[in-house]
Amino acid sequence: TESPLKLIHYKAAMLLSGAGDALGYRNQLWEYNESGPHVLLQELQELGGLKNIKVELPDWPVSDDTVLHLATAEGLATGEIKSILSDWPFLISQHLPLSVGAVGTIFSGKCSWTMVVKTFGLHRYPKPDQLLSLVAVAVETGRMTHPHPTGFLGAVASALFTAYAVQRRPLTTWGLGLLNEACPIAKVFVQNRSFAVEETERDWAYFCDKWLWYLDLRGISNGIGPVIWPSSYGPAERDEAYKSFSLSGWAGRSGHDAPMIALDALLAAGPDWEDLMSRAGFHGGDSDSTAVIACCCWGLLYGTQGVPEGNYCNLEYRERLERSAEQLYALSH
Ligand SMILES: *[C@@H]1O[C@H](CO)[C@@H](O)[C@H](O)[C@H]1NC(C)=O
Ligand SMILES: *[C@@H]1O[C@H](CO)[C@@H](O)[C@H](O)[C@H]1NC(C)=O
Repeated sequence: TESPLKLIHYKAAMLLSGAGDALGYRNQLWEYNESGPHVLLQELQELGGLKNIKVELPDWPVSDDTVLHLATAEGLATGEIKSILSDWPFLISQHLPLSVGAVGTIFSGKCSWTMVVKTFGLHRYPKPDQLLSLVAVAVETGRMTHPHPTGFLGAVASALFTAYAVQRRPLTTWGLGLLNEACPIAKVFVQNRSFAVEETERDWAYFCDKWLWYLDLRGISNGIGPVIWPSSYGPAERDEAYKSFSLSGWAGRSGHDAPMIALDALLAAGPDWEDLMSRAGFHGGDSDSTAVIACCCWGLLYGTQGVPEGNYCNLEYRERLERSAEQLYALSH
C-alpha cells in the first residue's frame, strides 16, 4: 500500500499532521483529557465517527504544535531557517549560562520543539547519508528549549522517523535505528560541542533505556519482529500502556514517549487512518502532540488514502501547509 514517494506524500504529511493535531486537540477539550479514551471515543461515535467530522474553525482549530511546524516549514522554504541555523553557534553561546543553569532542572517538558524539529527530517535531511546533519540540527534546535537529553533526543527521534518514512524503511527497524545509529551520533555531537557534556551524559541513559525496554516489550529490539502485542489492547489497555511508557503518568508529554506512542500507533494501525487516530490521537495524554508525529509519518507512507476529505479539506492553514510542502518538495528534489 505504500507507493514511491511523491509530492502527494509531502502534502499529506503537512496536511494530516495538522488534521491529526486538530482532532487530538479538539480546541483544548481532548488534550490531556482525564476522562479517558472511552469518553473521547464514545463522543466521537456520537459525532458520527471520523468520517463525519469536518475539521475546520471554530470547533477544530490546530494547536501550537502545527503553528510552529508551519512556521518552521515556511522558514525552510524561504531560506530563513538557514540563516537562523548559521547563527546557531552565536545563539548557543548567548544562551550558554542560562542553559547550563537549566540543565538538570528542566526535565524535558512540553514537546512543541519536538514537533518543530521533525520538519528537518522530513524536508531537509531525509537521505541516509545525511544522518549526521539531521542529528546535529535536531540536537542543536532541540537543546535550545530542552537542554535535558530526554527532551532533545525526542527531537532526534521525531526527525529521524520522518526521514525513515521518506526512505520507506520497515517500521520494525525504526527504534533500533534510533538507538544504534542516531543516538551514538548525537552523543559524539554533544561531546564535540563541549557544551554541558557532563550533565548530558549523566542523564543520557533514561531515554535509551526506556526505548530499549519498549523495543523488548514489542519484540522488535532485533529490528525484525514479529511485533508482540498484548492479548487485549483496546483503548483502556492502551491508556495504561502509554502511562507506563511515560515519565510521570502524563502520556506523550516527554521527548521519549511522544515518538514512542506515535510508533506504537503506526505499527498497529498500518494503512488504517481511523485506527491510527484512535491510537495516536484519542487518549488521555498529550494527544495532539503524539498525533502530529504519527500523522506526519503516516501521510508520508500512505498519502491521504482512506482519509475522509472532511478531516482535512477545510483545515485551518490548509493553503499554507500545502504551499510549504510544495516548496520543500521542490527544494529536496
Ligand atoms: C474531556 O472530553 C469530554 C468529551 O469531549 C468533555 O466533555 C470534557 O469537558 C473534557 N474534559 C476537559 C477537562 O476538557
Ligand atoms: C566530531 O568531531 C570530529 C572531529 O572534528 C568529526 O570528524 C566528527 O564528524 C564529529 N562528529 C559529530 C557527530 O559531530
